[in-house]
Amino acid sequence: MGNREGSYINDFDGTKELINLHCNGGVFNLGHRNTEIIDILKKSVDDLDIGNHHLMSRERAGLAALLSNLMPGDLNYTIFGVSGGEAVDLALKVARGYTNRTNIISAKGGYHGHTGLALAAGDAKYREPFKSSMPGFKQVTFNDMDALANAADNSTAAIILETIPATLGMKIPDKEYIRGVRSLCDEYGILLIMDEVQTGLGRTGKLWGFEHFDIIPDIVVIGKGLSGGIYPITATVIRKPLESIFHKDPFIHISTFGGSELGCRIAQRVLEISSSSDFLNNVNKIAEQFDQGIKKLLDTHKGFLIGLRQMGLMMGIEMKDELCGPVLTKAAYDQGLLMVYANNDKSVVQFLPPLTITNIEVDIVLKKLDKALKSARKLRKLYGAKQKMDEIKSIFTGRKG
Ligand SMILES: Cc1ncc(COP(=O)(O)O)c(C=O)c1O
Repeated sequence: MGNREGSYINDFDGTKELINLHCNGGVFNLGHRNTEIIDILKKSVDDLDIGNHHLMSRERAGLAALLSNLMPGDLNYTIFGVSGGEAVDLALKVARGYTNRTNIISAKGGYHGHTGLALAAGDAKYREPFKSSMPGFKQVTFNDMDALANAADNSTAAIILETIPATLGMKIPDKEYIRGVRSLCDEYGILLIMDEVQTGLGRTGKLWGFEHFDIIPDIVVIGKGLSGGIYPITATVIRKPLESIFHKDPFIHISTFGGSELGCRIAQRVLEISSSSDFLNNVNKIAEQFDQGIKKLLDTHKGFLIGLRQMGLMMGIEMKDELCGPVLTKAAYDQGLLMVYANNDKSVVQFLPPLTITNIEVDIVLKKLDKALKSARKLRKLYGAKQKMDEIKSIFTGRKG
């Protein structure tokens, strides 16, 4: 990658310009090289550094207080980390420590990172090459209440879900499902962990994605965009009673770089920006513009384009089959759009513009997307024909005599 600014990135040799509609899952919510964030970093290096993870810190305390104000209920305590995986690991450790239970349930096809416990809560394909499977983890179909109810009991420490699973193609859950998950947790004393690494910070049109479902989780994991795209920092926010597990020994969990004071200054501003009503109103306005634009494209590309999975600017372009995602990814790249198909549902291309994208840029995206869909339809036919040829060939090569 070469130059980058706002919604745009360039190829490393400057030969190609792309609008970033992937944004590393939300790292670039505020666009690339956001000038306000860069200024904060520049000023902060005049008087700060990473800080000391053994000592009290004004920056960490200030950021934790702001998070506490912006969270509902008694989600009042925050532990900072460096990566989303680390923040998920901690959420699962807290759940096990507090409940004194070991079992964890997550969604099939969900994704929580590649560190220890986060890895165990994800797809087997990422664990098995490293012999990293662990006892106590179970995955069930997302948005299926019966499957979850059958798996959960009073040996379950936590249910961890992405509010909208991105790797599963931005599958939007039913409101009754998420509310049902909360009730199930209450019934068995299970802790509900919402992974808001992608859905947090205004992506869905509300500050936190779970707000759409009128529930309060026990633990919320925040990452990616909290960095302002500039300084890695993540947060695990826990309900007040859970903090008791740190009373006996506050050092049972530490992270040398977690909550770097430089990162805290940046995250503070990211939160102020992302929680303002002007910012969230604009996210919803832009979301409406995409909704209207894609509705028109649905007519033009009937049969190929199936729909837009959407909650605010957490979007997935749904197409007719699993060949379409990779094909549209390529066609879009050729048109100057960076977007990537969902790994666990290749009929969907993830569609995550910066939350700061302008309405003029949205019009440009929609025009380019129209062209990309046109060439993707042609490419899809070619790949389809090739796939058929390969099938026929394999019948003949497999035949004896
Ligand atoms: C929903 C979700 N949770 C957790 C993670 C892990 O974050 P990190 O890559 O910072 O460890 C990711 C990363 O893509 C994610 O999308």
